[in-house]
Amino acid sequence: MQRIVHTNHGEPAETLRLEPLSDALPLASGRAIVRVSAAPVHPGDLLGVSASPAFGAPPVIPVGGRVPGVEGVGVVEALAADVDVSHGVQVGTRVAFFPGIGTWSSRITAPVESLIPVPDEVSDEVAAQMVVNTLTARLAMRAGHNALPEDKREDVTVIQTAANSAVGKLLTHLLVEAGVNPILLVGSATSGQALKAARPDATVIVTENHGWKDELRDALADRPVYVAFDGVGGALLPEVAGFLARGGTIISYGSMGGATTDIRTIAPRALTIKGVSLFSWQFEPAAVREADLAKALELARNFPNLFPVAERYPALDYQGALEHANRRGKTGMVLLAF
Ligand SMILES: NC(=O)c1ccc[n+]([C@@H]2O[C@H](COP(=O)([O-])OP(=O)(O)OC[C@H]3O[C@@H](n4cnc5c(N)ncnc54)[C@H](OP(=O)(O)O)[C@@H]3O)[C@@H](O)[C@H]2O)c1
Repeated sequence: MQRIVHTNHGEPAETLRLEPLSDALPLASGRAIVRVSAAPVHPGDLLGVSASPAFGAPPVIPVGGRVPGVEGVGVVEALAADVDVSHGVQVGTRVAFFPGIGTWSSRITAPVESLIPVPDEVSDEVAAQMVVNTLTARLAMRAGHNALPEDKREDVTVIQTAANSAVGKLLTHLLVEAGVNPILLVGSATSGQALKAARPDATVIVTENHGWKDELRDALADRPVYVAFDGVGGALLPEVAGFLARGGTIISYGSMGGATTDIRTIAPRALTIKGVSLFSWQFEPAAVREADLAKALELARNFPNLFPVAERYPALDYQGALEHANRRGKTGMVLLAF
């Protein structure tokens, strides 16, 4: 039994350490103890450890240390006596959990409402990562839809950056399903090849190539674009903004580039930057949250290829997992196995 923990903010590889999980966990009212099988390493988990401004307010580190991780999969080991059977969870049920707190651990306690029973046909690898990225893609979709002028909601073309990222691939799926035509931008040739193999019919443009803007201009063929979805930020964001029609919107859900953005080009063209954060998902209406979780399960069941695994690392090799999570050209999520 072990957990990955940090006691101060800093570079994840230098700050995180593995420690034994010795204490018996308390089982408070309405909660379950889950034996964790696997948990993903999200870019946001690492931003939290380093207290990057891209995370928001730095996460509080409690006495004894903070364990990163917000989702995962495992098996229910114990339930508080007052847990209602209507939740569909019993001792032995395999569950995904979100929002989890400190899921990089062999064992967690969680409110029973945050547990999602996993159907047999969904693997641990898919279940461990099916919630966070799907919900992010759904939030981005809704923000993008709302940003479209009402008379521009037919025959829509959008631009997507970080299109080979885990969130990016889910977003593309949702866009195509909704009849939208996304033009897919990736940073590296490796990602470009992987994405082209997965989506042979898609327009994939590699931004590290000289001339990528000409390719994008040709692909757009004078079609106006009112929405771009961006997971990279930095210098790429204003470049992409340059392709938006006057009054268009950048839906910003991430900043993989790690750099700050010069927004001087935004005001003169009356553009909008709209941020999307999973932290705000809890404020969505209950019916919307239910539909989002149902969609995550539907995608996990029917499109497991949307949830590839880059590699699964035993917790003991968490340093390998951290290095892999930051690798350019990576396809899929890095998982920690406990
Ligand atoms: N808003 C939210 O609540 C929320 C929730 C989840 C995730 N996110 C964000 O969504 C983004 C994607 O997360 P993910 O888990 O889907 O990522 P991921 O699967 O780890 O993929 C990262 C992608 O970023 C690209 N990339 C890395 N460094 C880059 C750079 N310097 N310039 C351009 N592209 C770069 C890589 O593609 P190339 O090889 O082509 O460069 C790769 O496809 C992250 O910024 C993450 O923080 C936000």
